[in-house]
Amino acid sequence: MEEIIKKLSLTRDLDDAELLFIIGTDRFDGELREAADRKKREVYGDSVFIRGLIEFTNFCKNDCYYCGIRRGNKKADRFRLNPDEILACCEEGYPLGFRTFVLQGGEDPFFDDAALCGIVSSIRDRFPDCAVTLSVGERSRESYLELFRAGATRYLLRHETADPIHYGKLHPASMSSENRKKCLFDLKEIGYQVGSGFMVGSPYQTAENILADLRFLGELDPDMIGIGPYVTHSDTPFASFRSGDAGLTLRLLSILRLMFPHALIPATTSLGTVSPTGREDGLRSGANVVMPNLSPVRVREKYSLYDGKICTGEESAQCVACLDARVRSVGYRIAVDRGDVRRGGDPL
Ligand code: SAM
Ligand code: FES
Repeated sequence: MEEIIKKLSLTRDLDDAELLFIIGTDRFDGELREAADRKKREVYGDSVFIRGLIEFTNFCKNDCYYCGIRRGNKKADRFRLNPDEILACCEEGYPLGFRTFVLQGGEDPFFDDAALCGIVSSIRDRFPDCAVTLSVGERSRESYLELFRAGATRYLLRHETADPIHYGKLHPASMSSENRKKCLFDLKEIGYQVGSGFMVGSPYQTAENILADLRFLGELDPDMIGIGPYVTHSDTPFASFRSGDAGLTLRLLSILRLMFPHALIPATTSLGTVSPTGREDGLRSGANVVMPNLSPVRVREKYSLYDGKICTGEESAQCVACLDARVRSVGYRIAVDRGDVRRGGDPL
């Protein structure tokens, strides 16, 4: 094995120059993938964990330049699910094997703490063996604490880019990298299993930005890491930028698996959008989570973060059957399990 891959596998880290070197070349991709796959199997065996994604609102008070549901996109057809509709998604998902429900949405002030806590606690009451993950953006520490007390134990909040200057090119001045990072440390301190991550190939991103992202993840030490290619949305200020690259995303998935052996890492929908075999390739390169959509089909197209998003027409059961076949085709199996993090590479 190439010395540099051996070093990354054994020490879980490289110096900055070495990391920049492997980020920038496809020379080691095959070896990286094999090493990442071995590492994942050591910690998680052949299990792939499923999370039922419920996209429950596309109202958003933010105006991120890359995102199709940004406040400024007047063409977005806005929707909200009510608590009964959200519970119905869980009812549909449970018999399909889901033991984690992810509530994701824009930053929608309509869902204040009382509303969201009510929804979280009703899911936990109805499905006590299931975990509830929230992905609803930046909130106050008090709000995160209330939601944790209501029964949410996991939170996904990508840092998007660790470099404040790059962050400023992707977001309006009302948003800051500093606050996003603070939110992540608040969530961790409260006791959530925390997920962070970034887009690959976002406008103006450099290899040094990606290095900073890896270093930030090292500092945060998250339980989940979500990366996926940036995909262009035609009704955003970034309409003329090209989408990110599947090859670089796969390389980074492998590097992340070797640096963070315990992490739960999804093969994302955006990876499946830029490449027809993206999710399978993601699983072969170190990812171990897939997040099928449990949202009602009538709202799927409306939760349009980027153009060409896959799986907007399928019923939940079709989506799971399709993913099950895809997961098997690359030698893994879907686990009916909450899929909690295995810290310290605890044996299976
Ligand atoms: N509002 C919550 C938040 O900010 O974390 C959750 C929803 S937000 C739309 C979920 C993620 O979608 C973001 O963290 C971002 O990385 C990703 N995303 C948004 N626009 C995207 C695009 N054009 N291409 C790829 N990913 C995108
Ligand atoms: Fe949704 Fe295949 S995963 S249709």
